[in-house]
Amino acid sequence: MKKLIEKAKKTHALNRDEIISLLYDKNCTSELFCAADEVRLKYVGDNIHLRALIEFSNICKNNCCYCGLRKDNKNISRYRMSEDTIFKLAEHAANNMNLKTIVLQSGEDLFFDCDKLCAIIQKIKTLDVALTLSIGEKTLEEYKAYKKAGADRFLLRIETTDKEIYSRYDPNMDWETRVQCIKNLGIAGLEIGTGVLVGLPDQKLESYADDILFFKNLNADMVGIGPFIPHPDTPLKDAKGGTLDMALKVMAITRLLLPDINIPATTAMETLEPNGQTKALQAGANVIMPNVTLTQYRKHYELYPGKSTTNYTPDETLCEIKNKIALIGRKVSNDYGFRKKSQLHSK
Ligand code: 5AD
Ligand code: SF4
Repeated sequence: MKKLIEKAKKTHALNRDEIISLLYDKNCTSELFCAADEVRLKYVGDNIHLRALIEFSNICKNNCCYCGLRKDNKNISRYRMSEDTIFKLAEHAANNMNLKTIVLQSGEDLFFDCDKLCAIIQKIKTLDVALTLSIGEKTLEEYKAYKKAGADRFLLRIETTDKEIYSRYDPNMDWETRVQCIKNLGIAGLEIGTGVLVGLPDQKLESYADDILFFKNLNADMVGIGPFIPHPDTPLKDAKGGTLDMALKVMAITRLLLPDINIPATTAMETLEPNGQTKALQAGANVIMPNVTLTQYRKHYELYPGKSTTNYTPDETLCEIKNKIALIGRKVSNDYGFRKKSQLHSK
């Protein structure tokens, strides 16, 4: 195992069987995390990029079986922020919190059509920030329009590369279409963010290996990996859910194979364990997304229960994250946090 980890550290290449054996292994986890931490330091440095997350609508037309925002969940109050509220939150994040990236996230809410979104994008871009969208599957033309309006990046997780599991838990959605959407982000000139859930029922270690190879083949710019946390108002309420350890392993191997990308320490990791994000930052992650959604809204953006900062204000959330970063001797980056492609990928 140690040899495999050394090989990955040097060559940033592993085949499917090698990844699977690393995922199965239980004895070298700390060596794996250390290697990912070293590769992170070598390629993206010690600075942590903070991205201000605005959850601007929890209305969704989809029905993903794992997600609390699914349209059949009648137990949540739905909200949609006004354009003005979205801008004010972005303004606070940029001007008062000094955050350099704004992430606009929502369910797939058709109210925000292309024109509305482009107007919001243009306005936020006057704030001297990078802008990421996380709003679901759209057409290539729409992705191009967002880019033209000033958007820089887009997050669209593949959720799982296991097609059978995808079609089971993402009813009325199509895996091939999703892959095409993710590829279209790159065609539109946006930085590509994707990622997966870890711990859906029947998901196998073999599928995680495929997930990691999918990120590598796609040459994703950002990869977010989150443990699946069962939500009581969904069909998967009685499922076991993912573990922090497995999510960290998938993340660490992703760092070894894609050394120069941006990898967030996800909120779902922190939800499973109070020091989950800190562990992630020491096992390959270099990004955190502080939630700057107002307290009155964020409790309704319940993708999964127990989100660690549900009752916090935006300022309290940032403060807690900065403390965590300081405690492990890392620094907050003050640049926009684009992926700086290393030689490895620009060839
Ligand atoms: N547990 C963890 N993550 C979840 N997401 C949705 N539901 C859950 C859950 N129950 C993730 C999905 C989606 C992202 C916005 O939130 O991966 O892409
Ligand atoms: Fe909607 Fe996204 Fe939740 Fe699926 S995961 S129900 S698309 S918010």
